Amino acid sequence: MGKYIMRSLLPFLYLFSVCTKGAGASDLTMPFMEYLDQNHMVCLKWGFDDVQGEITFKLVVNTTGWVGFGFSTNGGMKGSDIVIGGLGPSGHYFKDYYAIRNSMPLVDEQQSYSLLSMTETEDQTIMTFQRSIKSCDDQDFHITNQPIKLIYAYGLTDDIAYHQSRRGTKEVNLLNFTPRKIVTNPNYLSASVQNISVPSSHTYYHCKVMKFPALSTKRHVYRIEPVIENIDIVHHMLLYRCPSYVTEPYDSQCYMGNIGDSCFGIVAVWGVGGGPFEVPENVGIPFGGDDNDRFYRLEVHYNNPNNESGRTDSSGLRLYYADQLRQYDVGIMATGVLQFGDLDYNIPPKAPQFRTYGVCNTTMFSKVLVNGDLFAVLMHTHLAGRKVRVGHYRNGKQIDFLGLDENYNFELQQSYNLGNIKTIKPGDEIAVECTYSTTSRSKVTKMGLATTDEMCLAFMLYYPAIDISTCISHPDTTHPFIDAIIFLYHIIFSFSQNKYSVNENGIIREMMKTPTVTCMNINASSRLCTSWIVNPAGIMLFLLWIAIM
Ligand SMILES: *[C@@H]1O[C@H](CO)[C@@H](O)[C@H](O)[C@H]1NC(C)=O
Ligand SMILES: *[C@@H]1O[C@H](CO)[C@@H](O)[C@H](O)[C@H]1NC(C)=O
Ligand SMILES: *[C@@H]1O[C@H](CO)[C@@H](O)[C@H](O)[C@H]1NC(C)=O
Ligand SMILES: *[C@@H]1O[C@H](CO)[C@@H](O)[C@H](O)[C@H]1NC(C)=O
Ligand SMILES: *[C@@H]1O[C@H](CO)[C@@H](O)[C@H](O)[C@H]1NC(C)=O
Repeated sequence: MGKYIMRSLLPFLYLFSVCTKGAGASDLTMPFMEYLDQNHMVCLKWGFDDVQGEITFKLVVNTTGWVGFGFSTNGGMKGSDIVIGGLGPSGHYFKDYYAIRNSMPLVDEQQSYSLLSMTETEDQTIMTFQRSIKSCDDQDFHITNQPIKLIYAYGLTDDIAYHQSRRGTKEVNLLNFTPRKIVTNPNYLSASVQNISVPSSHTYYHCKVMKFPALSTKRHVYRIEPVIENIDIVHHMLLYRCPSYVTEPYDSQCYMGNIGDSCFGIVAVWGVGGGPFEVPENVGIPFGGDDNDRFYRLEVHYNNPNNESGRTDSSGLRLYYADQLRQYDVGIMATGVLQFGDLDYNIPPKAPQFRTYGVCNTTMFSKVLVNGDLFAVLMHTHLAGRKVRVGHYRNGKQIDFLGLDENYNFELQQSYNLGNIKTIKPGDEIAVECTYSTTSRSKVTKMGLATTDEMCLAFMLYYPAIDISTCISHPDTTHPFIDAIIFLYHIIFSFSQNKYSVNENGIIREMMKTPTVTCMNINASSRLCTSWIVNPAGIMLFLLWIAIM
């Protein structure tokens, strides 16, 4: 009923901010957008693929003359890396330039940008082009995950000449983008601890299980912002959604056996050094309405290496919600390895690289599925985790990675915004691989909730949401101490109905070697020099029944 009303009102409820009719918000390869000038004449959309090492731009400028875009170390033209193009009387033109002074830039010997399309409407020029994130050309700028000064200029005609005042600069973090907050409606939910005493020990986890104030109608949270009181000791924060059997609040040390410890559906993550997190413009994380009674657990990790005493803290997260509902609900689905139950699956001590796998097989979803558009992934292990990789498989073959962290650090957990939107089709499989190091441990490490136990999870943020919160599996416990796991017990859990379905067969397919993206020059004829070598350690399939719970 609620859903029906929402759907019928949709055309009136959601708003897109688009630079042009041509550059719609449905552009899956370029989810990010920023105007480079105050007057909104120059709009940049972009997206990137970490795995393949490419970044794609769409520059939309309200002119029918030439358009220029570039990267600059100081915001000026001198020393900058520039592309200039347009559509003139004799067709399109497009070149990679570099500027050694504030004058007409010089054409690069190596053309490292490739033009994907050049179109012109009555009053706009739309130039779509691509380059590798890292370039081998000294005349090109190296794109990093730091804020970068972007420059633009354009002309009124197709004669590339002095731009006069039609130029500007804007600093944007292309690879780690959070749009600036536009406070049209500063409504937020607050999840924070209140004046808690931080004990004089090195590490302390404080948990607060709580309900948010009642929201009679559903709201869409679109931005999650940290509010840190003591930046020197607050190390990371996680907000988890609780299962419906958690009905009591608590506010004390985590993992002391409280039932609220089983709230592990991550909704938000902040790690030291991180900033706010924002979801795409057409989606929101649903809160309130029918789900009003839901409890949430805020976990704050304090790092107090000097064992200072007498410190108090009131840090937390602000969850900004939009005035109006957005088009789609964000779904958050946990994939990876099941960590509950009496399954006796242990990581051996003294193992330098122990790998474990969990699989989500969407063919086992009972409902007819639509495509899920994935935009962010949170990868989660505990202290022994060293590496997490999430593979995407279709028709039995790996087609991509949905997440890659070759240097996983529990102390630096971050939401991982993909540079583009990856579509999960019905029937696709997702495999999560976690690599642990237990060289410093003398006892086995079990899968569980305590930070000294382990987890292997990837939380997928996608839309439109379906009612499945968990799609995880468990390896064969009859072979607990082998590197390659050969069996899966598959469990799919539906959140709202607390129903689960179990399937006892499954396989672990080969996961590719992580591609090594080095610097490269791309042009229209040769685009990729990524190596996709398949990991030969192929792993077989098996089936077996394991009784759980
Ligand atoms: C730019 O062009 C678009 C499409 O014609 C138009 O909607 C928009 O108002 C223009 N922007 C400005 C600042 O002139
Ligand atoms: C593009 O790559 C091809 C093949 O590597 C090369 O022959 C060609 O010269 C390159 N073109 C430019 C403009 O760099
Ligand atoms: C916070 O707690 C400390 C002791 O734990 C107390 O002295 C202080 O008054 C409290 N502050 C507030 C604002 O409640
Ligand atoms: C802090 O306390 C722990 C034991 O709780 C101790 O091992 C460590 O050396 C202490 N650190 C400092 C800086 O005093
Ligand atoms: C997913 O399920 C299908 C249908 O049951 C099966 O053929 C396939 O092997 C399963 N994939 C994995 C990775 O277990």
